[in-house]
Amino acid sequence: MRRFYTSRPEKRLELVVERSYAQEETVNSLKEGLSLDLADQMIENAFGIYGLPYGLAFNFFVNEKEYVVPMATEEPSVIAAASGAAKTIKSAGGFKSHIHSRQMIGQVALIDIPHADQAIQIIENQEDVLIQAAHTSYPSIVKRGGGVRSLSVEYLPATETEQDFLVVYLSVDTQEAMGANILNTMLEGISPLLEEMTGGTALMGILSNYATNSLVTTRCSVPFDLLKYKKIEGEELAQKISAASQLAQSDVYRATTHNKGIMNGVDALVLATGNDWRAVEAGMHAYAARDGRYRGLSRWWIEDDCLVGEMTAPLAIGTVGGSIKLHPYAQASFEILNIESGQAEAANELAGLIAALGLAQNFAALRALVSEGIQKGHMALQAKSLAISVGAEADEVQAVVRQLKLAKSMNQATAQTILDQHRKNKKEEI
Ligand code: MEV
Repeated sequence: MRRFYTSRPEKRLELVVERSYAQEETVNSLKEGLSLDLADQMIENAFGIYGLPYGLAFNFFVNEKEYVVPMATEEPSVIAAASGAAKTIKSAGGFKSHIHSRQMIGQVALIDIPHADQAIQIIENQEDVLIQAAHTSYPSIVKRGGGVRSLSVEYLPATETEQDFLVVYLSVDTQEAMGANILNTMLEGISPLLEEMTGGTALMGILSNYATNSLVTTRCSVPFDLLKYKKIEGEELAQKISAASQLAQSDVYRATTHNKGIMNGVDALVLATGNDWRAVEAGMHAYAARDGRYRGLSRWWIEDDCLVGEMTAPLAIGTVGGSIKLHPYAQASFEILNIESGQAEAANELAGLIAALGLAQNFAALRALVSEGIQKGHMALQAKSLAISVGAEADEVQAVVRQLKLAKSMNQATAQTILDQHRKNKKEEI
């Protein structure tokens, strides 16, 4: 069977159909891409389409389901690293992802409250009235089975700021939507009522991207005997990855880069599915600093002759709304993932997969960092990509890569010269 990796991009489009990752008409919609007309409907002043490479990562096995994972990223090695890590983890049973809850939080901040204690009392007593008002502002989410699940209120005294605040939080089941519009409409809807009840002024009402009611945990466990990598024994590799994980807990410089590696995977799938990656980034970084210090989001440790990895993170994503329906790539992504957007539990399934992809990406980075270093793998992959990009066939790639690694500069022109020379030599041999 022709390999996806060594095929030319045009051939890969055919393979996507041949292997039933997506239907032919979906692939055709990808060839056309996002139209300028659609872009014009999405944002203001649009006059072009900014493209990003879109590729597939393989070997993902999460909660007993196999996935081909579409990723939008401009960074070389990310997709290969994800696939490589997922392969090792799949050989050990794959990932187990678990959704803690799926609700979005929003807040109304009130200022100039004459009597904070009294205001808190009133809000708590009038909880049902406020929830009813929120539902009246956005009735369709209640019809779809969602709605406000809790309301709480907190007084923030003026200790570090000149201003004190009374903040009312709503936690809302937004079903399959990410929920920004739902929350913002509800919060603006209850603001006048809150002003009336408290005698204060509503400063703002807005969804929070610190999505602590949308936490996901993903976990994997790889026995030492499946961890052997390059010339390093499994146990030694596990010890080093565990040490690297501890470094990301104690050094903020390392924690930031550690988490950047996780985001290489997370963002690429969040983006590919038409979700708001800035929201996910903001939430995950805030969560990384939840105890007052910024730390690595994942942890790796040794347990019963296995390397165990785990990450918990807020993942506020949706499978409907925003640009999901509009963008042909987002639509294709759901088809490739075999996740039906809008279906019950689809957002939970996607969140579990995004977390697993982040942890896989992290595993790949740590494995490379504590073994041969990151550069060697990068250069090897870059050489391979260059060879393929100038048209090297499967049986020519290795020879071109070998020569490219020895060349003074690794670029397309050099790759082309090497390939031409290789073919000439071959012809002469015949
Ligand atoms: C590069 O995009 C990501 C890494 O720096 C992540 C890490 O250091 O863990 C390799």
